[in-house]
Amino acid sequence: MPPFDFQLRTRVVFGDGAFARLGELARELSFTRTLIVSDPGIVATGQVQRAAASLEAESIGSCVFHDFDANPDSAMVEAGRAYAASCGIDSIVALGGGSSLDCAKGINFVLTNGGTIRDYRGFGKAARLMLPSIGVPTTAGTGSEAQSYALISDTETHAKMACGDPKAAFRIAILDPELTLTQPRRVAAITGYDAISHAVESFVTTRRNEVSDLFARDAWRRLDRCYERVLNTPGDAPARGGMLLGAHEAGIAIEQSMLGAAHACANPLTARYGTTHGVAIAVVLPHVVRWNAEHVGDRYAELLSASGRDGGRDPGGRLAERLEQLARAADLPRSLQELGVARAALDGLAADAATQWTGTCNPRPFDAAAALRLYERAY
Ligand SMILES: [Fe+2]
Repeated sequence: MPPFDFQLRTRVVFGDGAFARLGELARELSFTRTLIVSDPGIVATGQVQRAAASLEAESIGSCVFHDFDANPDSAMVEAGRAYAASCGIDSIVALGGGSSLDCAKGINFVLTNGGTIRDYRGFGKAARLMLPSIGVPTTAGTGSEAQSYALISDTETHAKMACGDPKAAFRIAILDPELTLTQPRRVAAITGYDAISHAVESFVTTRRNEVSDLFARDAWRRLDRCYERVLNTPGDAPARGGMLLGAHEAGIAIEQSMLGAAHACANPLTARYGTTHGVAIAVVLPHVVRWNAEHVGDRYAELLSASGRDGGRDPGGRLAERLEQLARAADLPRSLQELGVARAALDGLAADAATQWTGTCNPRPFDAAAALRLYERAY
């Protein structure tokens, strides 16, 4: 058994209506004035006002930062830092999808430790304590609320930087399935597929361990069972809960095991074409699973059996088929052509994919030639 060093860094408060406890939980952490980081879409839903009222009821003041988009970059993080400094805050609440949670962590890095977010690329580069924070995901997707990494794009190159430090982890994650009930179908489809890919990839990486396996396997079991239910019946509250917890568990698994070639191939599509992360993932993931199949032993069979499916003689093929079935159910694009990618661009994309750190954790050795083969299959 490979050695591991595991600590759950984030307390999890799960349940319908749990969001109403925000003020009480913030008081437990001694917040007095907090920065709410929330994307403009969430501000429009009224949830930010709910958060502020819940904090206010515990005499906790708040100010709101929402000046960022779906791919928060270093300039947006800097704008958030300047605003936070002018507000005199002692804590942070992140409310929204992965972009809000990542942006909040990014602001925390530069506000407390100085410099720019580029200085924290990698792991463990923050010397000083960071502000206590609470993460409240409103999508079942990235699982960012379970991780000590902030994914921030470089403003100039659009490359995703992973900036991690144990001190950046949220002290508390509030998982309230009710917050995801009104999510548009397309958002649920895209973010949910990303969560599925996290379970599938983290279960087979070269860095996985017994604990990440535990979370990845259970995440897959929940997500495979609940994804289509949420797409077909948006008001299915137990399925919404299953998706939210599954995405969170997959996030815990990533923290230990990282990801694989699907994420390495997806990131250049987002950087060059602005393709939404979960859409890019849906196009490449089944191909990565088929390509990995002979290098993962019985791992894919184990995943299939965790959700009550038979791996048969070709578990990699069967898992890839299931992933294609899920993408079809969600009306997600299935090829690079559908994304508008020119065939002539594949070489350049493959060169970029080979530089993605996450590709180094893939079970089958991954380089530019491998990326090109995968892009060709996905074309
Ligand atoms: Fe992802």
